[in-house]
Amino acid sequence: MISKFLSAFVMILFGQNISAQVAIIPEPVSLVSKAGQFKPGNQINISVNTNNADAQRIAGMLQRKLANTGLNSSLSADAGTATIRLLLNKVPDQQIQKEGYQLKVIPKQGISITANETAGLFYGMQTLLQLFPAQVETENGLKNTQISIPAVEINDHPRFGWRGLMFDVSRHFFTKQEVKDFIDQMVKYKYNLLHLHLTDDEGWRLEIKSLPKLTSVGAWRVNKTGNFGTFSVPEDNEPKDYGGFYTHEDIRELVQYAKDRFVNIMPEVDIPGHSLAAIASYPELSCTPGADQYRVRSGEKIMEWPPNGHFYGLVDNTLCPANEKVYDFIDKVFSEVAQLFPFEYIHMGGDETARNFWEKTPAIKDLMQRENLKNLDEVQSYFVKRVAKILQNKGKKMIGWDEILQGGLAPDATVMSWRGMKGGIEAAKAGHEVVMSPSTFAYLDYMQGDKIAEPPVYASLRLNKSYQFDPLPEGVDPKLIKGGQANVWTEQIYNTRHLQYMLWPRGFAIAESVWSPKEKKQWDQFIPKVEAHFNRLDAAGIKYSRSMYDPAFAATKTTGNQWMVTLNTEINGLTIHYSFDNSFPDQYYPRYTAPVTIPKDAKMLRVVTYRNGVQVGKIISMPIEDLKTRKAI
Ligand code: ACM
Repeated sequence: MISKFLSAFVMILFGQNISAQVAIIPEPVSLVSKAGQFKPGNQINISVNTNNADAQRIAGMLQRKLANTGLNSSLSADAGTATIRLLLNKVPDQQIQKEGYQLKVIPKQGISITANETAGLFYGMQTLLQLFPAQVETENGLKNTQISIPAVEINDHPRFGWRGLMFDVSRHFFTKQEVKDFIDQMVKYKYNLLHLHLTDDEGWRLEIKSLPKLTSVGAWRVNKTGNFGTFSVPEDNEPKDYGGFYTHEDIRELVQYAKDRFVNIMPEVDIPGHSLAAIASYPELSCTPGADQYRVRSGEKIMEWPPNGHFYGLVDNTLCPANEKVYDFIDKVFSEVAQLFPFEYIHMGGDETARNFWEKTPAIKDLMQRENLKNLDEVQSYFVKRVAKILQNKGKKMIGWDEILQGGLAPDATVMSWRGMKGGIEAAKAGHEVVMSPSTFAYLDYMQGDKIAEPPVYASLRLNKSYQFDPLPEGVDPKLIKGGQANVWTEQIYNTRHLQYMLWPRGFAIAESVWSPKEKKQWDQFIPKVEAHFNRLDAAGIKYSRSMYDPAFAATKTTGNQWMVTLNTEINGLTIHYSFDNSFPDQYYPRYTAPVTIPKDAKMLRVVTYRNGVQVGKIISMPIEDLKTRKAI
């Protein structure tokens, strides 16, 4: 009986024919859907027209991916019988450039990916995999399945050469394997630059052989859980057992892993601010050394951020620009960093340097006099320029956050603009290269919906705002805008599941902003693609945020002293249902169609969104007192 049941089950599986809808992220330069589908059958044959080792490796990757998912495939040099042909052009096709590709899926004939360089074959493969059914993302997900690939012709190449994601491995430590997983996810969406934020107040994550305390002391702290930034000050008897770091061997492995996937890793060593882990290791690097007064931050408050923008340190977390030992330290650190990371740039941070301790230091006053520095901006700029020279001596280009503009930019420095786009515009107008990474569009640590319904962070950035990111502002020389980048700071990200939740789907939005032609970005067409990719993430077991289904809230007071609530969804086709009576609404509850008066004595608004009778948003419970603080949407 059981075996009969099983064989019927197997027959159903054999008979199953599945195909994907065409939903490519990032949107290609040109995509023409054709009639019909290609059915590769049970045995997929992959050919490569070159002995180029990278091209062979890509074919091997494709084969392994298909094998993981239960599809049989083989490799051969014979394009005649192949179902998937990888073709490297002998004569470059100017249209598809360095990283571009042409992908053709032709019914009854097969699939070809043509490129000028191997990076193009790699990106063509990523696009092809998106044409496979979502089950290709599941281990053994396609066993005994007949698949169909929709017929298309795609010509594609990136808008920008710098398509970055920054991963903060300092605030919370992520293992080497977790970094590899991050790379695996980013390349599916054609990102090519992994910026590793390796040092900060909360941990130094890179072995520096000549400065062993950086990792024996600086990589470890007291473990705390809750709302980062508000933690109690660690007691002396609490164990410093949370943390970790990458050895040189780890870094070499990661660099190679990334290179095999056409990703450069850019290291960031954040100085002179954000340096408490270094100072806890070597207190003599601060302007205010003193035995035992420094510890790696565990998330307790160490800075004040008044609304006027004049932030200051409660603890001195800065390197001292007037101390020659600091430049020796930086030289040692960057000697090893430059050796480990082949990428042409090293990021020196430069952001959010509190200078209130410098101000009180006699050695800084002497430095100002000696070097004729008029103010602390110029002191900071003096420091940055010396770092630039050190990096230059190591054969590297320097990039820093836009604060490196303060007091005068070092010659040849590249600016990463994070406080909006203005720093990038200013730098480009002065002839410097720029990477745009504005918090206003590209900070993936920010909350994705209303703060009542998200893990708390100090700011919000909804999907539709991320989608509006355009790295190229009007009026600047496009040649100076190298590209764009999204940043994932991890103060509030304690594990990889939550890291994934913060990355997707906003990572899709930024991917289109840095790869796709501007005119090809269409919000209404983007959302169905996002949903198709939710299915792919489900198949891959990767978490993502569904906050795009949740409404935004605004409350206003009418002249008659009544409060009204306005609700808005960022995507079309949803219905919002609500209650003020404390019960949990469903689709039979009142439907929101226009601003609603809040009943005078109501304590709670609860809302939920539906589409076609299916709940898509979460039930959000919004206390009326909170609601009254929500301003215009
Ligand atoms: C930054 O977000 N402080 C670069």
